[in-house]
Amino acid sequence: NQFIVGVDLGGTNIVVCAMSADGSRQYGLCSEPTAAHEGADGVIARMARMVNTAVADTMREAGVSRDAFLGVGVGAPGPLDREKGIVLVAPNLNWHNIPLRDRMTELTGLAAALDNDANCATYGEWWVGAARGAKNVIGMTIGTGIGGGIILDGRLYHGSSDVAGEIGHTTIDQTGRRCGCGNYGCLEAYASGTAIAERAREALSFEQLSILPDLVNGDVSKITAATVYAAAAQSDAVAIEIVRDTARFLGTGIANLLNVFNPDCVVIAGGVTQAGEALFVPLRQEVRRRAFKPAVDACRIVPGTLPGTAGVVGAVATFIAQHTGRPPA
Ligand code: BGC
Ligand code: NA
Ligand code: ZN
Repeated sequence: NQFIVGVDLGGTNIVVCAMSADGSRQYGLCSEPTAAHEGADGVIARMARMVNTAVADTMREAGVSRDAFLGVGVGAPGPLDREKGIVLVAPNLNWHNIPLRDRMTELTGLAAALDNDANCATYGEWWVGAARGAKNVIGMTIGTGIGGGIILDGRLYHGSSDVAGEIGHTTIDQTGRRCGCGNYGCLEAYASGTAIAERAREALSFEQLSILPDLVNGDVSKITAATVYAAAAQSDAVAIEIVRDTARFLGTGIANLLNVFNPDCVVIAGGVTQAGEALFVPLRQEVRRRAFKPAVDACRIVPGTLPGTAGVVGAVATFIAQHTGRPPA
């Protein structure tokens, strides 16, 4: 009877939860605002407090002692160095070279492992979610940014310096929109939640016939991706076009990945999946148009089934993999 704590560090929220090592039980799931303006020390202190609370909750609920905890897995955005346990750059948090893993160990007394947030979410969907049973998986998380994860033969693929899976920063338009990473035309600059809202605002500057402004009481700066999905669900033509274009951008990116990796499952997680079939139907169509047929036929493209928790669940799974050298059972 062993337990691991998972932490998902996002630009907006920190999610923490403890799990039994077999993935069957969750304890002490909680979420708090990241409050990045408090700086790395403040954020890490909050994460550690949340972990210690989850440990205490689990000890009480499962009736186990502290010795039952193997450690804590942490998913963090941006390129990082797993061996050193350092977050190299996280633009959303304004972090540079933060030794997150060792700070977590200092503050919790638990062994810690670090991995990219989207790698974790992909691993979580593979362990107990929508990609369960798949062999080769591409995961995408669509929120503030676009993250990605690659599982080959049941193992997370990290590449030569832990950068593998940065799908959001693959180029889909050479001379396209400016991205937060400094490049132009990245998929993230078109199809992230942030980009969806931005494209909607742009469309409204020359297209008046839309309910979008009404949904935000006339303040278009308040439009989010969720507003766009809501308007599309109410048959708003401007919103429908934004969702359809988003599906095409994502479909183009995914078709590239199908031709490179030939996965049996693509799992898409994050708020964008709220758009449902309005997104998935044109997305699959775009993939079918662009990728080789045997690659398309071999692959199911599905929404994640762990909304809000894929990251923490996967952080637990990555801890197990890094700790034991084997994928979790
Ligand atoms: C970062 C990724 C991260 C994703 C989601 C991207 O901008 O480059 O590392 O996984 O955002 O947080
Ligand atoms: Na990744
Ligand atoms: Zn980029």
